[in-house]
Amino acid sequence: MSSESSSAFAPGRVNLIGEHTDYNLGLALPFAIAEGVTVRAHGLEPGPSGEERVSAYAADLDQRDEFPLADVPAAEGGRAFVRGIVAELQRAGVPVVGSSLEIGGNLPQGAGLSSSAALEVALALALIDLANPRGAEAGTVESHAIDELDRMDIARLCSRVENEWVGAQTGLLDQIASLYGAPDTALCVDFRALDVRPVPLHLEGWRLVLLHSGERHANASSGYNQRRAECARACALLGVDSLREADQDAVARLPDPERLRAQHILGENERVREAVTALETEDLPRLGELLNASHASLRDLFQISTPAVEAAVQSLMRAGASGARLMGGGFGGSVLGLFAPEFSPPPGTRDVRPSAGAHLLHA
Ligand code: GLA
Repeated sequence: MSSESSSAFAPGRVNLIGEHTDYNLGLALPFAIAEGVTVRAHGLEPGPSGEERVSAYAADLDQRDEFPLADVPAAEGGRAFVRGIVAELQRAGVPVVGSSLEIGGNLPQGAGLSSSAALEVALALALIDLANPRGAEAGTVESHAIDELDRMDIARLCSRVENEWVGAQTGLLDQIASLYGAPDTALCVDFRALDVRPVPLHLEGWRLVLLHSGERHANASSGYNQRRAECARACALLGVDSLREADQDAVARLPDPERLRAQHILGENERVREAVTALETEDLPRLGELLNASHASLRDLFQISTPAVEAAVQSLMRAGASGARLMGGGFGGSVLGLFAPEFSPPPGTRDVRPSAGAHLLHA
């Protein structure tokens, strides 16, 4: 027997620093934001032939889908997320029941805030919970919904959907941020150890803001997969399993663009370590310098900026930001700025704060 309905919320994320380091088994410092995706799942009785089905409706996009639970067919675009989560949960041996899913929330798509990961995580939690015979113990991701799957397993499962169903070769950054987020906390993630260490993030009058570059961001169709392939080629040329192990002198001898990509990763891992120290010592001016250094490296070495992204960064800097940088996969989306209390961010920005991670909602 299944509980009749179940709802889950999963937030988007901001990455303070540590870009493209996740699939290079390096370090990053993201946090979950207040905005996210909500999935309401209702049990659906089997059809006359006994066939169990899943139907999904995303009100924002006015998009519908319906498919059988057994042998989930592949699909393009937004439909790939729901189908992928349903199929991968079953492949992992997690029970899924026939259901009708309503997808909503307040996270803009294509803004580089991980609307994809938020959707995957909210779908996974709502579906796991709906099929759980003990009923919901709402309000926490530590409820029965993940008795058998821990949060890292859910992150990996969601990332598999992104890689194999959606076609974006992304890492685990977004899913981990969404699943492990907590108020006033950034997460120092070590992607080799798969360790998540909470780091208190108290802004004390400082502001972190986002400004949309105006360019829509989508990992599957941007140069993201190409960057990932270039990093893999750099590893092959260096004879290492990941750029985490790469030696600086050996990297300097690589051909371009592999040299540039690897140099970004080495520097970015170091900047994450320094950013953690800056937060621990409440040295926000130093964090601003690190954001600027990260941006320069993403623009010049990783080469994922665009004129619109540069214009957005410049507009934050002109308004007095202590630091600003492109965020996420690159090639558009939102830029992040850090403002000291005496400066005002320009019009069009939105404030972000570290907020709660993914959780079940009371019915
Ligand atoms: C996107 C991907 C993440 C990560 C970032 C870049 O957000 O989904 O896995 O690679 O880009 O840091």
